[in-house]
Amino acid sequence: MIVGTGIDIVEVFRMRDAISKWGNSFLTKVFTDKEISYSNSKRFAPQHFAARFAAKEAVVKAFGEARKSPVNWTDIEIFNDKEGRPVMLLSNEALKLKRRKNVSEVVVSMSHSKNYAVASVILLRKSGK
Ligand SMILES: CC(C)(COP(=O)(O)OP(=O)(O)OC[C@H]1O[C@@H](n2cnc3c(N)ncnc32)[C@H](O)[C@@H]1OP(=O)(O)O)[C@@H](O)C(=O)NCCC(=O)NCCS
Repeated sequence: MIVGTGIDIVEVFRMRDAISKWGNSFLTKVFTDKEISYSNSKRFAPQHFAARFAAKEAVVKAFGEARKSPVNWTDIEIFNDKEGRPVMLLSNEALKLKRRKNVSEVVVSMSHSKNYAVASVILLRKSGK
């Protein structure tokens, strides 16, 4: 059963500007080491960072009340499985929120182009829970 959905769009130039203005302190505040090394390994890194940022915003929207909780950006991590599919891993406060809401699965999808990155998140609960 679907218990929440969220979507977000990010302008890639905003991400590029934030990275050039604040550099590593911005990156490490928002992204995990794994996200940073994955995105930096790509030709157009800001697109990959922007998509991950959109995914983090999207899951916050999907949870609805997440803004009230002390969720850190790095409590939400996106990694890619061996086929390249994005997988969202929640830890700390984000994981507590997931448990409190009885969410059994978080499904994320992302896309990015030169100017925009988008992400959508669906929260699922196993029936009977
Ligand atoms: C994997 C694929 C979907 C990516 O699409 P794209 O248009 O090249 O790129 P997008 O910007 O839309 O999406 C990129 C994101 O897709 C996600 N992605 C990659 N592989 C994926 C997969 N196997 N399943 C789901 N999502 C995937 C990733 O999150 C990636 O972003 P990231 O590298 O920053 O994590 C595409 O390369 C592909 O293989 N398409 C299949 C085409 C096809 O078979 N068409 C014929 C039938 S319609």
